[in-house]
Amino acid sequence: MTLLDGKKTSEQIKAEIAEEVASINSQGGKTPHLAAILVGHDGASETYVNSKVKDCAQVGFRSSLLRFEDSITEEELLKVVEEVNDDEDVDGLIVQLPLPNHISVQKVTERIRPEKDVDGFHPENVGRMVKGLPAYISATPYGIVQLLDRYQIETSGKHCVVIGRSDIVGTPMSILMARKSSPGNCTVTLCHSRTKDIKAMTLQADIIIAALGIPEFLKGDMVKSGAVVIDVGITRVPDPTKKRGYALKGDVDFEQVAPKCSYITPVPGGVGPMTRASLLWNTLQSAKKAFYLTESVS
Ligand code: GUN
Repeated sequence: MTLLDGKKTSEQIKAEIAEEVASINSQGGKTPHLAAILVGHDGASETYVNSKVKDCAQVGFRSSLLRFEDSITEEELLKVVEEVNDDEDVDGLIVQLPLPNHISVQKVTERIRPEKDVDGFHPENVGRMVKGLPAYISATPYGIVQLLDRYQIETSGKHCVVIGRSDIVGTPMSILMARKSSPGNCTVTLCHSRTKDIKAMTLQADIIIAALGIPEFLKGDMVKSGAVVIDVGITRVPDPTKKRGYALKGDVDFEQVAPKCSYITPVPGGVGPMTRASLLWNTLQSAKKAFYLTESVS
């Protein structure tokens, strides 16, 4: 069993990004700039956004954190998004989710200019991704693809079972693994809350990507020997023995599943750091105008 070390791999990716930023700066180019909008005081969201700001500093990006109280109206938030859209110095804009119930995620996502949508949540980026066009791909699925690639895990012809069909992870993951590329070329089964017999599916899987948000859902008897297991889950479970009062639990029962695997991601230190590195990578592509504004239509 080999651990897929997302921490180490993400450090390599960040070093590559930092090198590129240094080279851009030395040639008088524009320093990449990520803006993050955070609404409210959700503990996990605060942690994630603070990490993203720290990551920017580590690779030499500029970052701006725009914080608002839960009381901000949808209209006010949409106006802020438009102001950042119009700020020429900002290359990437993310709005941390979840948002308060009175604000439509859909409306906010669609208001972000696709060229700055480094989360890859805008329908235009999702559509481009599905068609295999250059696009911002949401950071968690892209991080997983990068991890498989850097560990040179063969995916072609394999059966990949994705558990969870969220917009952010499960659905784009299923598309990326099925498409004609490397990594990719899998036969994909997308399981969700209405799937009749998930165990019957996962037992057939060469690759399992668990992204349903139920701690330790995937048990040892649901996995065939030699499988590759990717754990996207990161749920805070109360734990009085920990200083911060909670433990982070993945969607995989690591103790049971790991001995059966060829490769498995730990939690923490697997998918999470790869997600963070992917957001930086997308922001760098935006600063380089790699995906948009390069095609002239004249
Ligand atoms: N909330 C959970 N994951 C994400 C993410 O990747 N991006 C944003 N903006 N919010 C999230």
